[in-house]
Amino acid sequence: MIEYRNLRVALLGAGSVGAQVASLLLAHGEELAIRAGAGLELVGVAVRDVDAKRSADIPHELFTTDAESLILGADIFIELMGGLEPARTLILQALNSGADVITGNKALLATHGQELFEAAEQVGAQLYYEAAVAGAIPIIRPLRDSLAGDRIKRILGIVNGTTNFILDRMDTVGESLEEALATATKLGYAEKSDPSADTEGYDAAQKTAILASLAFHTTVPLEAVHREGITGVTLDQIEAARKAGYVVKLLAICERLTDADGVEGLSARVYPALVSRDHPLAAVHVAKNAVFIEAEAAGDLMFYGAGAGGIETASAVLGDLVSAARRHVIGGPGVAESTHANLPILPMSLVRTRYQISLSVVDEPGVLAAIATLFSEQGVSVETLNQSVLSTNDDGAPSATLVIGTHEASEAHLAATVIALGESHVVSRVTSVLRVEGS
Ligand code: HSE
Repeated sequence: MIEYRNLRVALLGAGSVGAQVASLLLAHGEELAIRAGAGLELVGVAVRDVDAKRSADIPHELFTTDAESLILGADIFIELMGGLEPARTLILQALNSGADVITGNKALLATHGQELFEAAEQVGAQLYYEAAVAGAIPIIRPLRDSLAGDRIKRILGIVNGTTNFILDRMDTVGESLEEALATATKLGYAEKSDPSADTEGYDAAQKTAILASLAFHTTVPLEAVHREGITGVTLDQIEAARKAGYVVKLLAICERLTDADGVEGLSARVYPALVSRDHPLAAVHVAKNAVFIEAEAAGDLMFYGAGAGGIETASAVLGDLVSAARRHVIGGPGVAESTHANLPILPMSLVRTRYQISLSVVDEPGVLAAIATLFSEQGVSVETLNQSVLSTNDDGAPSATLVIGTHEASEAHLAATVIALGESHVVSRVTSVLRVEGS
């Protein structure tokens, strides 16, 4: 029997992920010790209510409400309670007392990441956060370590399972947004009282800030992430997308860009976009997540799997635990976050995308020419034009629907084109504007 040094592990939070982490650690402790080269003793689980019902059996004597005392003397502190406070203060306390910290708290990292990483660096500790983005999917370590020798060009991520479930349901079952949200709520994906963290893209924006920071070796604050949610997406848009060979996905986009003066910068943004049905991300259904990476040397890579779930996310936390234990055994300071590139974060107006714009127009001579002029005045080149039809509008005049696909152009020019179309007397209504990504 090998004698290992014992590492004291303190856990904060016993919700769906925390309870599974405790349960798996207790069940597989010996095997994890062999992998880590150190014993992993769960010394306690700090919770608000020691008698609350848990999703896994955990010995009652492990529970405490005294998180601060639990942290003292811990070698590794796992924070899975969520929220900004007291999680931030407790993590800082743990780091300052010399513990390595593991967290799945994306909101905290996206908001106070820089402060926490600096605190870890100052004391030579390390902060691990594989569970913070895309649940069970290994994506932090691949970006931080495996791809550290490459240059990331772009990341397109489906990092919010709830919105992917809703959009997929609209596409595959034909439910409206409201019906699909109700289904997502019934199945426990969407928060009943307020689903906006998912539907308005806040959750995805937090994950985007974390991914962009890692990919581009730059601190990307949450406020710098452009965010649009899915609440404006209609069943008509989903159906039109299908007919045109696209699917609508809420994408987290992190992209290396060059501005007009040749200065390199980055863009971090979240919005619903059209993705070609041929793209690997189009095959990501229900509440699954996937992160598609375009790297200069490695080419295209896709990481796919469960983006949430108690036991699935616990897998990511336990992977971090084994890494943290190995580091303790080897000794020496933790590896600081790499922010050396410090790239400027470019405004949305400089982002270049393609658009699909649907218009309702009066069907009479000169309309197409007038619309083409509006595009050319903004320097936006039309790639595809599809006219379908033909009915009468409210005034009884013949009306047509135009779906115009553009070549790549700057967001500023495309946005100006959409405004001009909305103001044009030949356009009855701009019915849909969606960006096209992934080509
Ligand atoms: N609410 C998130 C989602 C899971 O729907 O993917 C936690 O990040």
